[in-house]
Amino acid sequence: MIPTVTLYNGMTMPQVGLGTWSLRGQACKDTIHAALKCGIRLFDSATFYGNEKEVGQALREAMAAGEVTRDELFVMTKLYPNEFRHAKKAFDASFKRLGLDYIDLVLLHHPGAGDVQAYQVLEQEVKQGTVKALGLSNFYREELPSFLAQVSIKPVLDQNEIHPFYQEQAVVPFIQEQGLVVQAWYPFGGRGHTHEILNHPAITAIATKYGKTSAQVVLRWLLQRNIVVVPGSTNPEHMAQNCALWDFALDKAEMQSIAMLDCGRKFDWY
Ligand SMILES: NC(=O)c1ccc[n+]([C@@H]2O[C@H](COP(=O)([O-])OP(=O)(O)OC[C@H]3O[C@@H](n4cnc5c(N)ncnc54)[C@H](OP(=O)(O)O)[C@@H]3O)[C@@H](O)[C@H]2O)c1
Repeated sequence: MIPTVTLYNGMTMPQVGLGTWSLRGQACKDTIHAALKCGIRLFDSATFYGNEKEVGQALREAMAAGEVTRDELFVMTKLYPNEFRHAKKAFDASFKRLGLDYIDLVLLHHPGAGDVQAYQVLEQEVKQGTVKALGLSNFYREELPSFLAQVSIKPVLDQNEIHPFYQEQAVVPFIQEQGLVVQAWYPFGGRGHTHEILNHPAITAIATKYGKTSAQVVLRWLLQRNIVVVPGSTNPEHMAQNCALWDFALDKAEMQSIAMLDCGRKFDWY
């Protein structure tokens, strides 16, 4: 079973989930069923990914088959900035597409015009029970303090790009000090860039020492920084690896050797 992190509001959330942005159609449903078999219970979607319908369908199928119960699942989605102006309508559509009794966590996908107002619309959903908690994504030092001052339900989490080449060494503790959990997207650098990170000699050396894969070393390094993760994968073998991270630990020197790889290299523009 994947360990959980406790959010400031008392909810618990798996430390590892499945990022779904590349998944569409039947392949999306098949991948979610495979992930559930591996023990994954957290699924990260977004209106922008265009896959909420399939994510919801696959989860409902699994519940109907008795493979999992709703309270064992943790379902996340996000509203995109071009939806902030009509947040209620966008949320209702998202809720309908997922087709679940409630959504565990809804994020604002990016800062943008009308973000506070959109968040306030989502606060009403929390009060009505359609959403359990709210969070942010791609909010950094510049945006976070003024945003937090304007909302009444504190976000539980901030989901940002973090990997060995882009580590956010100052920003991560800043966010954590506000009581928010930090969740890494692109933990391996994202599609097209994983090769560079997973074959870096500093990482492969640690992987060899522990008999683990480079991917496991990267995820373990993030977890030891108290950063939870949503790696994307369609490969059940990889998913199983990404869930087997608690029988080894990097020592201080190994954490430091990965810290040295930070070169401020982002793989996306957010
Ligand atoms: N909030 C935001 O703005 C934002 C932006 C981008 C992404 N995200 C979130 O972050 C998630 C992850 O992003 P991502 O999937 O693009 O990038 P990623 O997790 O960094 O990398 C995914 C790639 O790594 C491979 N992989 C996964 N596990 C592996 C393992 N154990 N060994 C070797 N290779 C492995 C996958 O290939 P296989 O399929 O072959 O395993 C895939 O090619 C997204 O799905 C989304 O949920 C959020």
